[in-house]
Amino acid sequence: ISLKNYNTFGIDVLAKHFVSAQSVDELQEVLKLTDYSDKFILGGGSNMLLTKDIDALVVHIDIKGKDIVKQDANHIEVQCMAGENWHEFVLWCIDHDLGGLENMSLIPGNVGTAPIQNIGAYGVELKDTFVSCDAIEVSTGKIKTFTKEDCGFDYRNSVFKNELKGKHIIISVNFKLTTSNHKIKTSYGAIKTELAENGIVNPSIKEVSDAVIAIRQSKLPDPKELGNSGSFFKNPIVSKEEFDAFYKSNPNAPHYIVSDTEVKIPAGWLIEQAGFKGKRFGDAGVHKNQALVLVNYDNASGTEIWELAVQIQKTVKEQFGILIEPEVNVI
Ligand code: EPU
Repeated sequence: ISLKNYNTFGIDVLAKHFVSAQSVDELQEVLKLTDYSDKFILGGGSNMLLTKDIDALVVHIDIKGKDIVKQDANHIEVQCMAGENWHEFVLWCIDHDLGGLENMSLIPGNVGTAPIQNIGAYGVELKDTFVSCDAIEVSTGKIKTFTKEDCGFDYRNSVFKNELKGKHIIISVNFKLTTSNHKIKTSYGAIKTELAENGIVNPSIKEVSDAVIAIRQSKLPDPKELGNSGSFFKNPIVSKEEFDAFYKSNPNAPHYIVSDTEVKIPAGWLIEQAGFKGKRFGDAGVHKNQALVLVNYDNASGTEIWELAVQIQKTVKEQFGILIEPEVNVI
C-alpha cells in the first residue's frame, strides 16, 4: 500500500506489507509474526522523510486511550497511549483544565513519538512534564518502563534516537500536569506579542494555547494542505569561539546563549540569509514564512526533498562555516 497518507510530508512510497496495531496485545502479536529485523515502526509519520519504498512489514502504531493514574492537591498524572494525536491530546488537557502542554499546541505527530526527539516549542519541552513512558522491547516483546532519567532528554534528542534507536516501541507516555496554580510560560517573544495584541494580561492555559495556535498557523504550513515535517533542520549549537568569529561578520544574527561555552543559532535565519526562503525547485521547496520548513508542493519524491536539503546544508556551510543537521529521520 502507499504510505502517502501516513507521513506528513505526503511522500508517495510503497510498503511491502502493512498492519495497524490497535492494542498492546495486537502489537505484541505482530512483533512475533516473522523475523523482527523486517519491521518498520510507524507512528504519526511527522518526523520522517521517506526516500524509498519500504521493503518490510510496516507496523502502524494506532493504540488509543488516556487514563488518570494518580492525583494530588495540585497535580494529576495522566497516561496517554502512543497512537493518540499529539494536538488532540493537548486540547483534551486544556478542556480538562490540565496545565503544562499548552505551549506545545499544534505540533504534528502522535504522543508515542513525542519523547523520541523531546518535542518542544515556545519555551517548553516535553521533558518538562514527562514522568515516564512504557515501551515494548522489540527483541523480546517485553514491556519496560523508562523514567525521565532513563530517557536522557536533550534539545531534540533522547536515548531513543541514539543508543536505543530502533530497539523499543513506545506504547504510552505519562505526564504530570497541573490542576491548579498553572505555570504560565510566556517568556517567548512571539507569545508575549500575540497576547499583548489581544489585550490579554493574565492568560489562562487556553489563551496561551490559542496564542501558540495563532502564531503557528501564521508561519507554519498545515501538513494537510502542504506536505511538511515541521523544522527540517535542528538549530545548530556552536562553541563560544565559533560563535564569536561568526558574529563578527554577522552582527545582526539572532542567537541564544545555551551555556557559558555554547550558543544556539536559528537555522531558519541562516537558510533565509543563504537565499532559500520561499524558493521552489520542482515540487520541493522552502516555506515562504519559515525557512526551516521544507515543503512538498504536490508530488515531490523523498529524494528531491533530500537533494534540496543537501544543497541548503552545503550553501549554509560555505557561507557561514556552520553545519546544520537534519532534525527529521531520513529513510
Ligand atoms: N528566522 C529567520 N528566518 C526564518 C525563520 C526564522 O530569520 O525563515 C529567525 C526568526 O526571526 C527568529 C529566529 O530565527 O529570530 C527563531 O525563529 P522561530 O521563533 O520561528 O523559531 P525557530 O528557532 O526557527 C524553533 C523550533 C520550532 C518551534 C519554534 C518555536 C527547532 C528546530 N525548531 O524554531 O519547532 O516551533 O522554535 O519554539 O528547534 C519543529 O520542531 O518542527 C518546530 C516547528
